[in-house]
Amino acid sequence: MDDSGVRSPQVFRMLRRSRSNRARRRRLDRRSGYGSGYGCEWLTIRDSRDWVCRQARGRTLELGVGTGLNLRWYPGDVELVAVDLDRERLDVSAERAQELGRAVRVAVADGHRLPFGRDTFDAIVCTLAICDVDDRAATMAEVYRVVQPGGVVLLLDHLEPRWRHGRPATVGERVGFTVVERQRLWAGYFERVRLQKPGE
Ligand SMILES: C[S@@+](CC[C@H](N)C(=O)[O-])C[C@H]1O[C@@H](n2cnc3c(N)ncnc32)[C@H](O)[C@@H]1O
Repeated sequence: MDDSGVRSPQVFRMLRRSRSNRARRRRLDRRSGYGSGYGCEWLTIRDSRDWVCRQARGRTLELGVGTGLNLRWYPGDVELVAVDLDRERLDVSAERAQELGRAVRVAVADGHRLPFGRDTFDAIVCTLAICDVDDRAATMAEVYRVVQPGGVVLLLDHLEPRWRHGRPATVGERVGFTVVERQRLWAGYFERVRLQKPGE
């Protein structure tokens, strides 16, 4: 503001930028979560983000992190790496991580060809993203490759026609995982699952 009480064009530019950032985040959140942009995930997926993330431990990979709606639910001591195909959503995730004061390494990566070595992670989290990948058998095989023996995979998915060939838990079993826990919400429209790679 100058001496005459008039706001400077720079302040207007900053206000406009922060308003358009908020609008961009809302738009991307709406496409990412399940009713998150409308504030109704408490009804749709209920406490699933908390359920999934609180079981993560050690070196954890979040696959298809989107706009980072899970970030606030991880325990503080989890060492998090987050990947997604979409650079714009990853940018929102990085902003969210910064606001939460959480150290997260984010990278553009394709679930079909994860850029990590065999047995890299203690845990892998994937919410509402395994429903989105083109080839989930290939993606689950990649997940199996990069998680350690004894490591856990925590998934949340929703019903869709492709599941007649097997829901993610079943696809996980086919690539070698053991299903440790399987919970259905809304008569199975949503399913949350804990898988384990045998070996320890
Ligand atoms: C519906 S959003 C869910 C985002 C987030 N996991 C959540 O629960 O809010 C699905 C995400 O999966 C990502 N995705 C789709 N195919 C992918 C792939 N092959 N590799 C990595 N990410 C992928 C999309 O870019 C998108 O961000």
